[in-house]
Amino acid sequence: MKRLGVNIDHVATLRNARGELHPDPLFAAKYVKKIGADSITIHLREDRRHIKDIDAKKICSIKGLLVNLEISTNPKIIKIALKINPDFVCIVPENRKEITTEGGLNLIKNKLKLKKIIKRFKKKRIRTSLFINPSLNDIKIAKNLDIDCVEIHTGYFSNLIKKKRNYSKEFDRIKKCSLMANQSGIEVHAGHGLDYKSTKILSKINQIKEFNIGHFIIGESIFFGLSKVIKNFKKIIK
Ligand code: PXP
Repeated sequence: MKRLGVNIDHVATLRNARGELHPDPLFAAKYVKKIGADSITIHLREDRRHIKDIDAKKICSIKGLLVNLEISTNPKIIKIALKINPDFVCIVPENRKEITTEGGLNLIKNKLKLKKIIKRFKKKRIRTSLFINPSLNDIKIAKNLDIDCVEIHTGYFSNLIKKKRNYSKEFDRIKKCSLMANQSGIEVHAGHGLDYKSTKILSKINQIKEFNIGHFIIGESIFFGLSKVIKNFKKIIK
């Protein structure tokens, strides 16, 4: 059974555009769970452009809600994450000027730093994931880092589909990485840029256990409503 994680960062983006309280990400987190999401994802970015510390703290304290907190390797962010104690963390690269997370982590460059961070989260029994590019070498490094999960960056794959270009090579890359990770005892997740079509195609890969989707869900909900859109995704990944 594949799971759907819903990223609600852009509820906060919309709220922040007015500088007031509506729409409330806390309400979104509870609502999204009620209508079928298996977990919610929030990204506490260093520039706090959407989710703020108080949102993360309140959302992580909702009983019965599984929260996946995306974080960079910034020591201040790590300290906050350890304090608010989410169920899951996903470590992502972060670059101030990017519009969204542009690629996976550089595991070679950050191996030692990541090893120390992973140890701290595992000690608190927080499921820990690394956001990586679909690269077999990165899966090997991830295995050495004793990670619970990897989330494969599907941005490039999603763009090929949106531009109606040939995606078979990228699909094979994602599939091979998923197989190798699974054989190494690492749970496989997928995320970034996904819509109905790209999710449907990737759902054919049995080893992918979780999809984390944000921008498309929130955007599509303007027209069709969150409930309908989440139900559609649940059907697609079933
Ligand atoms: N997974 C990770 C690790 C991300 O950084 C993001 C973007 O915040 C997503 C999934 C969701 O991407 P999108 O909003 O394009 O669906």
